[in-house]
Amino acid sequence: MYSNSLLAIVIGSLSTTAQGHAIETRINNGLGRTPALGWNSWNAFGCSDASASAALIAANQFVNLGLKDLGYQYVNIDDCWHTMSRSSSGQLVPDPKKWPNGIAAVVNQIHGMGLKFGLYGDAGTKTCAGYPGSQGHETQDAQLLSSWGVDYWKYDNCYTPCNGAVPQTCWSPRDTKSWYTLFGNALKNVQHPMLFSLCSWGLDNVWAWGDSVGNSWRTTGDIANNWASVASIAAKGATISQYSVPGGFNDWDMMEIGNGGLTEAEERAHFGLWAIGKSPIILGTNLAKIKASSLAIIKNAGILKINQDSLGKAATYFVPSGQSQPVSGQLYPFWAGPLSDGVVVGIVAASGAKTFSVNFKDVPGLGSGTYTWQEMYSGKTGTGTSVSVSLSNHDMAVYKITPAGTTTPTPVTSSVPSTTSSAGGGGQGTVAKYGQCGGLGYSHSVFCQNVPKYCCFVVTGAPSCICPRSSLRPMRRYWLLWSKDLRIWSLLCCDQ
Ligand code: GAL
Repeated sequence: MYSNSLLAIVIGSLSTTAQGHAIETRINNGLGRTPALGWNSWNAFGCSDASASAALIAANQFVNLGLKDLGYQYVNIDDCWHTMSRSSSGQLVPDPKKWPNGIAAVVNQIHGMGLKFGLYGDAGTKTCAGYPGSQGHETQDAQLLSSWGVDYWKYDNCYTPCNGAVPQTCWSPRDTKSWYTLFGNALKNVQHPMLFSLCSWGLDNVWAWGDSVGNSWRTTGDIANNWASVASIAAKGATISQYSVPGGFNDWDMMEIGNGGLTEAEERAHFGLWAIGKSPIILGTNLAKIKASSLAIIKNAGILKINQDSLGKAATYFVPSGQSQPVSGQLYPFWAGPLSDGVVVGIVAASGAKTFSVNFKDVPGLGSGTYTWQEMYSGKTGTGTSVSVSLSNHDMAVYKITPAGTTTPTPVTSSVPSTTSSAGGGGQGTVAKYGQCGGLGYSHSVFCQNVPKYCCFVVTGAPSCICPRSSLRPMRRYWLLWSKDLRIWSLLCCDQ
């Protein structure tokens, strides 16, 4: 057990209100004080290469491409690294074909390179791809991971109890906090410190309690390799920015940069938004094949420095005078957030090429006065009371702004966007929340309110969808699971 965790537990048990409710204390493992920087196998390889060689290639590329020098640290292997069953003593077993010398040998090699190693597991009986999950084995698994020297543990949410069954997945609100707490407590009692990454898909308002259990928490379902997905995750992030703090960050999911679904401008916006939103930046492409323009984006030192700022406060929307209000679920162009040594302003051409101007007096944290600015993609600098930039469709500019004289600072507020409701659906039945769209019991297409997404109904037993709109959410990552769990996946939201 690490000593500051012990302290956190003691303080936690002593701190009770008059009503006897325990006051939650932050997980105090000293990790994740800034958002994690790393790589994960899933977006690049899915189930096909969760192996020692994939990990070592990525680790070598961290060094060769100069990513390590920029702070990228975690080399993480996702689902499918195990064998399909536990050993006779109940241990998780690395697939010997993928890990011929076991996990610890690879961890040692990666540690020897000055990097860290992460693995993936699941709170239920099985991982999302059907490998053994940790339910009922939490202590044993935490000890095994510690004995291997694992530094980062991504914990998924499949095959957990839901609506009286154990489906592959289900969006209905459940007590996700209970099983994340169980593993979080197990991790507090092992020797090797592990960053605990909750892959809880944004269920059950995880941002409101995640920092008492882990170091980061997923805010949405899985990212897809397209702009609509990137934009909708960022739009969600703007509404919950206040929950990110050193030691506990909203996780907007792994990057799709380099995977071919985004234009170069969109890749800049993807990186810039994740960085200023203080999300972990976990690269998700094959680093042995990454193209020069994508590499230049992920190596932007100024933007990485903003992401890693010690204050750990996430940027969110602000509304410049004369601009319309944000619409719930839609990406808004204007972002700002405090830094330990200034303010970051992000401008994203969310709905087409445009010239944008921002007066610094409209920016939370700034005020009337003259400021020095630097735009991190172009490197341009200037001094004045405003900035102006022409951006191509979906491109982004990221400014670091520092005082250039006497200023009247405007108080920093976390402005949660006022909402206007999204357009009508065309399905039969309405559900109030996106989270309820994946449950059983709907027999027609369903319109989700409060989110700019539509649900599709998949006819049980056949992979065909009925959607109010044509664009289907890509499902390539789940094809293996369809035959087993079609009913559970039968309602899927489409990205607009
Ligand atoms: C999903 C998770 C993904 C990936 C996948 C593996 O639930 O959100 O990030 O880990 O499972 O099966």
